[in-house]
Amino acid sequence: MSWTLMIHGGAGRFERGRLSPEVEAATRAGLARALDAGTAVLAGGGAALDAVAAAVAVLEDDPHFNAGRGAALTREGTAELDAAVMEGATRGAGAVARVSHTRSPVGLARAVMERSRHVFLAGVGADAFSREIGLEQVGNDWFVTDPRRTNLAELLARDDDAYDVDMKYGTVGAVARDAAGHLAAATSTGGVTGKRWGRIGDTPVIGAGTWADDRGCAVSCTGAGEYFLRVGVAQAIDARVRLLGESLDVATAAVLTEVSALGGTGGAIVVGADGQGGWRFTTPGMNRGLATAGGERRVAIYGDEG
Ligand code: GLY
Repeated sequence: MSWTLMIHGGAGRFERGRLSPEVEAATRAGLARALDAGTAVLAGGGAALDAVAAAVAVLEDDPHFNAGRGAALTREGTAELDAAVMEGATRGAGAVARVSHTRSPVGLARAVMERSRHVFLAGVGADAFSREIGLEQVGNDWFVTDPRRTNLAELLARDDDAYDVDMKYGTVGAVARDAAGHLAAATSTGGVTGKRWGRIGDTPVIGAGTWADDRGCAVSCTGAGEYFLRVGVAQAIDARVRLLGESLDVATAAVLTEVSALGGTGGAIVVGADGQGGWRFTTPGMNRGLATAGGERRVAIYGDEG
């Protein structure tokens, strides 16, 4: 049986000439490393859940993406991290929000699914659970990088009430279908620069930013979380595939059109039960990658890259 892995490193205003050559090269290299990590699992006959968790953990540790180290900063200059995982066979799910000290939020989301009775933990309680089960802890400063401090300072200098007007969405995610035919999705983010008041976006909300159901598809989203929440994007794509019989592409396009109609932008990666995968985005670019058992392998950033 074949396998398919798709990853994203965020949708946004990624246009030729806007990214420095260094940032573009580092972004492509980071996406390639994440594909390598997920591919190693799937090519060895491993589970889709292990593959998406491995790919996302690589992107969390890479400061070029808005998740884990390099996360977008709150108005106070701290990192508050959100993540979720879901497996399609059982519809088991785990999610965390506003995590401050767990090195791998996606690992913690998975632990919530596998090692607690719960689906969604937030804030100090999520970090306490993480400590109790022995996951790696770091100081909040570990997540904070100079480029993200600069992003925050620029934003605060522009407008007291602004956030992410440059659409620097760098949320990371992965979806996979393994050789046994099972699906999984994982997503991780720092949210939006300048967030406050405990703001949480779509990423950790099961059915909004992250979803997997073996009867339909697995979905990981990136974009303006407030709009993705209001549309319930990930589950809406699956429902259209599963209940209306739409193709992945038609379903994803229809749901992103709903997001656009509300004023939001972003993208999604999707893989179906037959192993077909696809991506769509309404921003100029989306950091993305694909690998399959058939030997296809691609990393792309800009909208004109296919
Ligand atoms: N899509 C990520 C967020 O809005 O937090």
